[in-house]
Amino acid sequence: MKKIGVLISGGGTNLQALIDSQGSVLTSGTIVCVCSNNADAYGLERAKKAGIPTKIIRKNADCGGDTDEFSRQICDYMKKMRVDIIVLAGFMSICGGELLKEYADRIINIHPSLIPSFCGKGMYGLHVHEAALEYGVKVTGATVHMVNEVVDGGRILMQKAVYIEDGDTPEILQKRVMEQAEWKILPKAVELVCSSD
Ligand code: GRF
Repeated sequence: MKKIGVLISGGGTNLQALIDSQGSVLTSGTIVCVCSNNADAYGLERAKKAGIPTKIIRKNADCGGDTDEFSRQICDYMKKMRVDIIVLAGFMSICGGELLKEYADRIINIHPSLIPSFCGKGMYGLHVHEAALEYGVKVTGATVHMVNEVVDGGRILMQKAVYIEDGDTPEILQKRVMEQAEWKILPKAVELVCSSD
């Protein structure tokens, strides 16, 4: 059974999907800790309700604004919790330094578009859906991929398409992509990785 550490920054609906999938879709891994870079992240409440240990590590308040120190502290915590696989579930910070080295090819991310569309620097949260609507695509979706040194550049594990509908706002589209794609493919992709090696 692989030990999973989840990194969050916000509402944690993808974390919730992962929590709810344990024992059904996710059978080869178990969530052993949740770490947030935002003390107010509601995802921390979701973890506590599920009895999962939590930790707050803030780049500025806890790491003096130093990116390498931030990566080091997250890495140290993951190693302390004996984490095998890290999942970025709405984690709004770039993974780098020691964390990326120590957990090479063992970090999974969920992105709310069909990579390579609408991804890379600055493409996060609502900005992704604003760009899709702006461009006028008819289909968007979500992608689960491995994390490497290129933002949203790692090997693609799973994707799911979602149709854009007349009258969609970025908020409406975000909700549909979450419900119809993100929350479905993240547990499946994490199971795939946990059961593969
Ligand atoms: C999701 O849209 C996810 O794709 C993106 O950030 C958002 C986080 O949502 N990375 P939540 O915190 O999982 O609710």
